Amino acid sequence: MYEKIQETASWLKAKMVTHPTTAIILGTGLGRLAEEIQVEQAIDYKDIPNFPVSTVEGHSGKFIFGKLGGVDIIAMKGRFHYYEGYSMKEVTFPVRVLYELGIKTLFVSNAAGGMNPGFKIGDLMVITDHINFFPEHPLRGKNYPTGPRFPDMHETYDPSLIKLAGQIAREKKIRLQYGVYVGVQGPTFETPAEYRMYRTLGGDTVGMSTVPEVIVAHHCGIRTFGISVVTDLGGFDNPVEVSHEEVQEAADKAQPIMTEIMREMIVRSEKLEHSKNERYNTDHPTEEWKSQS
Ligand code: HPA
Repeated sequence: MYEKIQETASWLKAKMVTHPTTAIILGTGLGRLAEEIQVEQAIDYKDIPNFPVSTVEGHSGKFIFGKLGGVDIIAMKGRFHYYEGYSMKEVTFPVRVLYELGIKTLFVSNAAGGMNPGFKIGDLMVITDHINFFPEHPLRGKNYPTGPRFPDMHETYDPSLIKLAGQIAREKKIRLQYGVYVGVQGPTFETPAEYRMYRTLGGDTVGMSTVPEVIVAHHCGIRTFGISVVTDLGGFDNPVEVSHEEVQEAADKAQPIMTEIMREMIVRSEKLEHSKNERYNTDHPTEEWKSQS
């Protein structure tokens, strides 16, 4: 697999006209951000050697090379989910390739069920930590030379980026939540008992992506920032049914604020140095929050 990663990266390097250090995985709810990119180059996954091909409805697959707010980026339109049948090595293959292409900062988004009783549908939650409930670990097997065999997982979500998100949200009067994302395999949404369990274990949102990619990014020393859009609510006293369509609809509604935050994050994070020891500030001024309903 490691040779395949190198092969794919070399193939892309030979074609690339820019050399970005920032990448974004455009999860559910970030389609609009793709429209803001001044596209210089787009390469379909199906044309990239060794690349898995996306199958799920609503997830087309391509690498977009371009500028966002003047910053060179690579955007992944479409990602690979474990529930589609891919192995964890396949799910995280693009992140390994991004590392080889020189990516130093990765932004990710996802749609997720909210379990924290303080959350509302449409809220954005900055991921401060995760709980990995996937049945297969992306680093299982031979260790790749990008990182240690037994990686430390403190500050997997970069504290200075989390702090920056708070600053941007305050300026733009966007309401942000903060919390722990629980990564599960799906494709079933949770039973009420499962939502309660994940909440009891310390989760604030739950979803079917992000954790594998973030683990691999962390193993590569890529600093990572992630946001969940709360698309449905589960857990205590909340026996509400959920469907894929509702998830899409709620994510679409949250697009403007998600786009605003991510665009600013990308532009301003370029200027941030790695600062491992800074603690993030999760105060948010309630009275200034933008109405998001
Ligand atoms: N559970 C798991 N994945 C999800 C959910 C959920 O409630 N909502 C959106 N993706």
